[in-house]
Amino acid sequence: MIDLLPQSAIIALQSSISEKRFRHCLGVLEASFRLADAWEHYDIDRRLLAWAALFHDCAKELTKSKQIRLVNNGNLIYGRELIHTSKLSHAPLGALLLQTKYGMDHPEVLMAVAYHPTGHSDLTPIGWIVYMADYLEPGRAYVENRDEILDAACNDPLTGLRMVTDLRISMVLKKGKDVHPMAEQFKTHLEQMTMLCEERL
Ligand SMILES: [Fe+2]
Ligand SMILES: [Fe+2]
Repeated sequence: MIDLLPQSAIIALQSSISEKRFRHCLGVLEASFRLADAWEHYDIDRRLLAWAALFHDCAKELTKSKQIRLVNNGNLIYGRELIHTSKLSHAPLGALLLQTKYGMDHPEVLMAVAYHPTGHSDLTPIGWIVYMADYLEPGRAYVENRDEILDAACNDPLTGLRMVTDLRISMVLKKGKDVHPMAEQFKTHLEQMTMLCEERL
């Protein structure tokens, strides 16, 4: 998994985030590959998946001044809707950092990173995986039904996405925070997809 990525990028990431967060990123990488291996019918590029999974939180510990410099010097394309929400801005900033610092500019990776906290209807399987693995990695042992959701996600992506979306929204509400409109939109999108699938049966 990790050997699919350049050593220099891994070292740069490791030195820019805390040990705890790096462990979380490794956990997301592990859970991501478990999902990708389970979805045999999807042809998922493991190198791109490794980039998106390991680097999804790469901008989470940037200082305010570095964030401002990054936005001023770069061209923010992915995740613009999230840039003004403090808990979510690290996602579009992460996509921008991947482009400017790490030279990774594949749209699937950038979409996955930019929308990992909310989801987006244009995400590809790489984006779905990172969105789910972020909450299903081994470090999230406190999530009561983590194993159950992970098994469900391995069996059926849409079921897993719906379960993780409910989990994410319930955790936001438990903290007394507002659910971002992008997260609401993604939930609606998944409900529509579910209805379409049921109609086809
Ligand atoms: Fe994040
Ligand atoms: Fe994360």
